[in-house]
Amino acid sequence: TISACIFDLDGVVVDTAKYHYIAWKSIANELGFDFTEEDNERLKGVSRMTSLDILLSIGGVELDQETKLELADKKNKNYLEYILRMTPDEILPGVKEFMTELRSKGVKIALGSASKNAMIILNQLELTGYFDVVVDGTHVSNAKPDPEVFLKGAELLKVAPSECVVFEDAEAGVEAAINGKMKCVGIGSPDVLGKANFVVPGFVGFSISQLNF
Ligand code: BG6
Ligand code: MG
Ligand code: MG
Repeated sequence: TISACIFDLDGVVVDTAKYHYIAWKSIANELGFDFTEEDNERLKGVSRMTSLDILLSIGGVELDQETKLELADKKNKNYLEYILRMTPDEILPGVKEFMTELRSKGVKIALGSASKNAMIILNQLELTGYFDVVVDGTHVSNAKPDPEVFLKGAELLKVAPSECVVFEDAEAGVEAAINGKMKCVGIGSPDVLGKANFVVPGFVGFSISQLNF
């Protein structure tokens, strides 16, 4: 039986990668190097500070911790300008319909995100009411592929990990679900998410009946 569904946020519920990209690119450009959309793929599912480390390694730049914290803060202020303009129109297609179906069948819903901006985003999207539990980057100390964020969600819902399905768009997130002994549906391309139980391109037409593992 499936008692709970745990959703990643960025790339699953909403496409924030484009805003992260613009904000990181401006940091890279300021430091004197380019940052491509392909480079941006490497930041998906990765925490803010690790994202900065990856960005700096791409540019071959080394900085002290204080400067890194300043840059991460600057990036986040820029990113916030974009997400504070988001509206419910940006919820990815089919997500709300699927969550409505889950709620009608008594399946619990949790958020399991690395982002420290998750509550702001859920508020902008007017989605907070859909979630029984929210676990985000402000609640965990171990980043995906560590399963902490998902295990915490299961614990708060009082549901066994084996009865949870995780929805993830990032390889590190799929690995986190597997490490937590949970089922996982990849959202995106099978090339990247091959370790998931199965992969779908998105939630349009997706139904709880497909969760028969
Ligand atoms: C993840 C995103 O959900 O959150 C990453 O996929 C991002 O790209 C991470 O770096 C941390 O986000 P934030 O909002 O705390 O900077
Ligand atoms: Mg994601
Ligand atoms: Mg995430």
